Amino acid sequence: MNSLAIRNIGELVTWADDQPIRRDAGLVVEDGRVAWVGASADTPAADESEDAEGTAVIPGFVDSHTHLVFAGDRSDEFAARMAGRPYEAGGIRTTVAATRSTSEAELEALARRRMAELRRQGTTTVEIKSGYGLDVATEARLLRIASGLTDETTYLGAHVVPEGWTADAYVALVTGEMLEACAPHARWVDVFCERGAFDVDQSRTVLRAGVDAGLLPRVHANQLGFGPGVQLACEVGAAAADHCTYLSDPDVSALAEAGVVAGLLPGVEFSTRHPYPDARRLLAAGVRVAIATDCNPGTSYTSSMPFCLALAVREMGLTPTEALHAATQGGAWSLRREDVGHLRVGARANLAFLDAPSHVHLAYRPGVPLVRRVLVGAHLTAHRDCRENSEGNPS
Ligand code: NIG
Ligand code: FE
Repeated sequence: MNSLAIRNIGELVTWADDQPIRRDAGLVVEDGRVAWVGASADTPAADESEDAEGTAVIPGFVDSHTHLVFAGDRSDEFAARMAGRPYEAGGIRTTVAATRSTSEAELEALARRRMAELRRQGTTTVEIKSGYGLDVATEARLLRIASGLTDETTYLGAHVVPEGWTADAYVALVTGEMLEACAPHARWVDVFCERGAFDVDQSRTVLRAGVDAGLLPRVHANQLGFGPGVQLACEVGAAAADHCTYLSDPDVSALAEAGVVAGLLPGVEFSTRHPYPDARRLLAAGVRVAIATDCNPGTSYTSSMPFCLALAVREMGLTPTEALHAATQGGAWSLRREDVGHLRVGARANLAFLDAPSHVHLAYRPGVPLVRRVLVGAHLTAHRDCRENSEGNPS
């Protein structure tokens, strides 16, 4: 198939400046890109055609923050938290032990299964971090697996200080031998800048070393309390400061001024019983906002962007349209991608067909599997097992 015409789209979300949401629309895909958008009745002929039967079509979700490659399960920790125990960063070490003792083939199979889950729920671009290896060989292994699944891979050797190491010795490893082994498989460098993980000086050292090795910085910031993570993200020109659960007024102004995307991860507040940050406060200050799942076994074991979008509407004060924008265009900003997150002419034809007349249903009908089909480039998938990387190419 070289071209596909989709007619009778009840509501088409493109995020084009003039008409971000169209009714009664048509769209033509050519060679994996959006080639034409307009009124359904004017849709030009193509090699194949598809009738959307009045339902909504949206850009595929861009999940800009996941930790998909790991082994093990921490449901006991979750249950204990729901009974009142607080979340602690040290739980990461439980997953590190399980991950280290699992073979590369099994880790890859687990990650592919999670990719398929994401895809079924409308995600077409995904960022994947390392961070559950914390030794040179395992971190490199996790990134090799991740880079078989997506182009958006992130080196997070600085997730937590592993058992048996001092912080300083571990930072030296993360910025030395481990970075050398991991940088070839990564686009981004990340650090968990938080009490119980890495302080601001250690975090700065990690990010600078990553940048010197050609990686682009992003930060886990202000998740468990007020702290220096957001300001550090702004100082180093990070693409994103993710979590942003506890923000001071100067943090909000710094994000706006530096143009750093605030990555909101409502699955984390849900699973840790932390308070949800106020997304309206960020938008009012001119901060660009993304929503992501943070899919990981400790603080947010969901692969569902629709679930996170619905939480952001209910608990963070976003409208359904703002939340969809943050989950698509916002994710693309966070990953500095111009080709995804929207359906303007020239975009990758990554889109989701909803079993609903409007994108509002994503929040209005939370928990309902509304993604009927996903198109990734030229591949139309009706929820078949995911064998593509983030751009839909067979890997
Ligand atoms: O993004 N904050 C640090 N990393 C993960 C949690 C990891 C874990 O608890 O396993 C997060 O929430
Ligand atoms: Fe995370």
